Amino acid sequence: MRLIHRVAELRAALADAEDTAFVPTMGNLHRGHVALVEQARQAGRPVVASIFVNPLQFGAGEDFERYPRTLAADCEKLAATGADIVFAPDLAEMYPEPQTYQVVPPLADELCGAQRPGHFQGVATVVLKLFNMVRPRYAAFGKKDYQQLFILKGLVRQFNLPIEVLAGETIRDEDGLALSSRNGYLSPAERAEAPRLYATLRAVAAELAAGRRDLAAIEAEAAAELGRHGWAVDYVSVRSQATLLPPQPGETALVALAAARLGSTRLIDNVEVGLNPV
Ligand code: PAF
Repeated sequence: MRLIHRVAELRAALADAEDTAFVPTMGNLHRGHVALVEQARQAGRPVVASIFVNPLQFGAGEDFERYPRTLAADCEKLAATGADIVFAPDLAEMYPEPQTYQVVPPLADELCGAQRPGHFQGVATVVLKLFNMVRPRYAAFGKKDYQQLFILKGLVRQFNLPIEVLAGETIRDEDGLALSSRNGYLSPAERAEAPRLYATLRAVAAELAAGRRDLAAIEAEAAAELGRHGWAVDYVSVRSQATLLPPQPGETALVALAAARLGSTRLIDNVEVGLNPV
């Protein structure tokens, strides 16, 4: 496995590659990332993983400075998983002045975007740049970041990029907590509480499956349940899988999404729901 920091070197290494499979990351890798690399490896070779903590997707007061930088440990994990190239550019290599941004659709201002203005613009900008650097045939993203995955699929479609997006299932700890690099910020008491986010979304999914359709009430009850246990809730929302907008009457492929904070740690999760058509 090669560790590459420069775009020119990456281009040279990939000059003859036709089926490159790509996993963009911000490092501090966990089993969720490893599963994405494995999924990518099934799709194509060589497998490239990028590690870049992207300042554009962090808002003022967020955790850009304290986001864990663990390059050596990440490289060990990637080598053990069969990645061929790790691309870890520095800030100047990624963003020569003057900065230019990718425009994103209005959905980027909803859900996570409502609390994190500019976040998805930052994600779309770095991912488009990484796509241009790596020129992959396949690119893998986790379903835990459901809105991110949706927006990036839209980017690929809108700009006719010759890339197949692979969606990786959310990997969870035994108690249901979705793996996230930010779980490491949780105190022991917060870690014990954290699985409630997934449990609450599963309860929402069960209400929907049982036939309830009063979405506003279901969402409010779920948010109140989290609030009672010390969470500061950004949103609980039931959306259409097809549009990520509030579902139309009769839509059956739904997704329940939530973002909420325990102390200073913001966690997100989601549960897909397939309803029986009436
Ligand atoms: O999901 C992430 O880790 C990041 O948002 C991504 C896609 C690597 C862009 O920085």
